[in-house]
Amino acid sequence: MTRVFLSLALIVTLAVPAMAEPVAKPIPIGVAVATTSNIALFGEEQVNGAKIAEAYFNAQGGVNGTPIKLVFQDTAGDEAGAVNAFQSLITAKVVGIVGPTLSQQAFAADPLAERAKVPVVGPSNTAKGIPQIGEYIGRISAPMTVVAPISLKKALAINPKIKNVAVLYAQNDAFSTSETGVFQEAIKALNLKTVALQKFQTTDTDFTTLVTAVLGARADLVVISGLAADSGNLVKQLRQFGYKGLIVGGNGLNSPNMFPVCGSLCEGILVAQAYSPMAETPVNKDFVKKFTEAYKKAPAQFSAQAFTAVQAMVEALRKVEKDSKKKITAMELAQARQAVNKALLSGMVIHTPLGEISLDREGEVLQKQFYVSTIKMNPDKKTGAFVLAK
Ligand code: ALA
Repeated sequence: MTRVFLSLALIVTLAVPAMAEPVAKPIPIGVAVATTSNIALFGEEQVNGAKIAEAYFNAQGGVNGTPIKLVFQDTAGDEAGAVNAFQSLITAKVVGIVGPTLSQQAFAADPLAERAKVPVVGPSNTAKGIPQIGEYIGRISAPMTVVAPISLKKALAINPKIKNVAVLYAQNDAFSTSETGVFQEAIKALNLKTVALQKFQTTDTDFTTLVTAVLGARADLVVISGLAADSGNLVKQLRQFGYKGLIVGGNGLNSPNMFPVCGSLCEGILVAQAYSPMAETPVNKDFVKKFTEAYKKAPAQFSAQAFTAVQAMVEALRKVEKDSKKKITAMELAQARQAVNKALLSGMVIHTPLGEISLDREGEVLQKQFYVSTIKMNPDKKTGAFVLAK
């Protein structure tokens, strides 16, 4: 009897479709970045930027009167951490995900969101091929193909005698291998000679062999593609062993959290950036003011991009409500996720701290303004600033 009853119950359960789940109020947006591990240097800046965005857009009324709520999940520094964070957020019924921190993690975790039809906005993934992971995957972080070459041109403008380049990169990180490829192509196109090509691991701390090779090759420019702690230590050891030429850093050196790693020896590194706190737009002025009040320092690129990624979600949610004349919270979750993705990829132009940007149909960011900055360290040897390179 019990068995018959259970079987009947099972049949009934299977026959009745799951109740359509509405979107929760406040509207949950997932943020999956690294707040632990060796890349927490980046993730901490991302959390700071995202929190300013949450307060800023909610103070404007959120999504036409409905507030948003950021749901944070730590991805730590590896692929498994990112996959777990994405899984938790999808289960937590977020309408979209901002994250993860590394491209290396995006290649592992984004396919999960793609399968679940949850829109993703990458806040800092700059490797080639990220938007191509799927229809639900976009980014607001300009790929290094666009950003990297301009820092080389600036190095040549500062020292036109540069001829011999040493190229150093982290071989165990997808973004670093992608970025070094871009740098190597740009080096060729500028008729410079690669006199040393050396690999390292993001976990390395001793760079003696690499530094010896650079000095032996008599390089007059060093180009580094790695993450923050490894790149910072590499710069430190290059200078300690007597390398005196210019250093161009990739996106890994684009974080003030790296300053304490190389200390006063960070001075003069050139970095191409997709953001400047000096940009005179109304939204950037507001962002810089609120960020500086909250954290007592100017925002850097990772923070500005995290703000922008949250902004993209908010503006997509607003567009969905405008176009459908329906409140997001009256929509079924799956339908809302799909509509948000469509809005993100609609080509809508948004005015962000990074300037005017939009995402194309594939989810790639279209951005107009880039900068090259040089690092200036303060006498305390721990703090400093990215100053626009002249
Ligand atoms: N830009 C770095 C990446 O894409 C953080 O992995």
